[in-house]
Amino acid sequence: MPADKPAILFVCLGNICRSPLAEAAFRLEAERADLEAAVDSAGTGAWHAGEPPDRRAQAVARRNGIDISGYRARQVDAADFHRFSHIGALDGDNLTVLRRLRPRDGAALSLLLDPVPGRRGEAVADPYYGADAGFDATWADVTLGARHLVRALKA
Ligand code: 4NP
Repeated sequence: MPADKPAILFVCLGNICRSPLAEAAFRLEAERADLEAAVDSAGTGAWHAGEPPDRRAQAVARRNGIDISGYRARQVDAADFHRFSHIGALDGDNLTVLRRLRPRDGAALSLLLDPVPGRRGEAVADPYYGADAGFDATWADVTLGARHLVRALKA
């Protein structure tokens, strides 16, 4: 992990819906704020490893100005805790898994929505089994979390 710039990993369950959208939203917000950061996403589960994001996630990202069709799902691994300075979980279940995997000197862990006033401890709801509109709510949440995280990293 380079010491000169932050390196952020977003983690959900499958790495095909929420965390790729968090990665995309963070890329947009960091670019807008002129923040240089490394960013990636991963899943605690491996079921979708190697797959592109869910087509509904690709669609909402495209509507918001970013192409995520080239992203590929992967499972979080031990090296991630040293490659990244900060790991943002999309919900409490995945945060619990990450806490168990984290070595003592590993990346700082938090929920993506923790830096958002009034939303500390809240999960980004899993849109996978729901209606398409759920992905717009996911986009709104990950954008808010990414914006506040970028602001905190700039400060
Ligand atoms: P994600 O959504 O964790 O936001 O990528 C899910 C994707 C796939 C599954 C669950 C959640 N699944 O059970 O296959």
